[in-house]
Amino acid sequence: MLLRGAWLCLSVTRLSACRMELRGKVCILRSVVSSDVGTILLWENDPALAQYSDPHPPYSREQIEEFIACQQYGLQANGQLRLMIEVGGRTVGAVDLFDYDGTTAEVGVLVYDHADRKQGYATDALQTVIGWAKALGITSLQATIDSENIASRRLFSRLGFVNVDNNRYLCNMKRIVAPSILSADFGNLERDTLMLNRSAAEWVHVDVMDGDFVPNISFGFPVLKAVTKVSTKVIDTHLMISNPLRYVEKFAKAGSHYVTFHYEATNDIDACIDAIHAAGAKAGISIKPATDARVLQPWIEKLDMILVMSVEPGFGGQSFMPESLDKVRILKDMITAEGSQCLIEIDGGISAANAGEVFRAGVDVVVAGSAVFGAADPETEIVKILNA
Ligand code: DX5
Ligand code: ZN
Repeated sequence: MLLRGAWLCLSVTRLSACRMELRGKVCILRSVVSSDVGTILLWENDPALAQYSDPHPPYSREQIEEFIACQQYGLQANGQLRLMIEVGGRTVGAVDLFDYDGTTAEVGVLVYDHADRKQGYATDALQTVIGWAKALGITSLQATIDSENIASRRLFSRLGFVNVDNNRYLCNMKRIVAPSILSADFGNLERDTLMLNRSAAEWVHVDVMDGDFVPNISFGFPVLKAVTKVSTKVIDTHLMISNPLRYVEKFAKAGSHYVTFHYEATNDIDACIDAIHAAGAKAGISIKPATDARVLQPWIEKLDMILVMSVEPGFGGQSFMPESLDKVRILKDMITAEGSQCLIEIDGGISAANAGEVFRAGVDVVVAGSAVFGAADPETEIVKILNA
């Protein structure tokens, strides 16, 4: 891990909203992220502040919530940001995000001593700064990691970076992988969910099947609640059930960030979308292979996501249907024409072998069940899919 120059340790004299008075000098607080290992602060890096050395007091939960509520990402390009890793008021390290032009940036992580490194602080900090860089619209993160720094190489590789030449690592930020727990080991669901927490996957795909809309029955609310209790990821619930209007609100309130129902399963699409939004979740609609993409035109501007099935819904482990990509391209044009931010997700038969072509066709999120959970090393498989 690298860090250029001395890291910042700022003392705070007065806090208000996003601006801080630091011994007479105003510093814009960009964001504060609290994690289970401590408070992580993002500051606009100003060399003039570097001389401050005494750490500020640990923040209360309310102060962190206030910071996060008013956080802003108004960073200028070619800036530099330094992230301090605070654990109970003790600074254990820092992360640098620097030399960026709005779409690419360098990142470096340093946790000072071995004992703290073993606590996972660097993992937490790097995951935080990756999420933060995404929020900034940065699409490519790079890092220089010396060859003898094995621990760092392992950390960056686990979180989505690939070694592009001897010391250079690259992470493609626009892509999202959503492993489907339908293929997880249900005798060890907590273990598999914790593995996903450590992984470069940003979402967890939860396949609910009722045995009526599809010829299979998977699981329902108890499993969803068990997963959401442990998971730190976006919960992406895929409802393969008849008459979904009966349940969309309940799935949203049970912890789903996205609730996706099937176009073929309901006569009241607007009511389903509105109920999901009213319950505070994002609304997705899914179409089977035989359904034409153009039927979704009336709802493009209301939807948060469209899920293109690249297999017949009902089972994991099926073969990818390449004609699905024609549908993706049609949808991409429809979404662009509408000026919508609607995401496109694809689901079924995805692996590192076809993910590159799928992402290039315009997909934002790929679901992968058997490719991930059937792999000897699921975390590495996720990184391969991300960088395919
Ligand atoms: C199928 C499900 C998919 C499936 C994906 O009906 O909606 O999410 O679990 O599994 P793989 O990736 O193995 O095709
Ligand atoms: Zn699915």
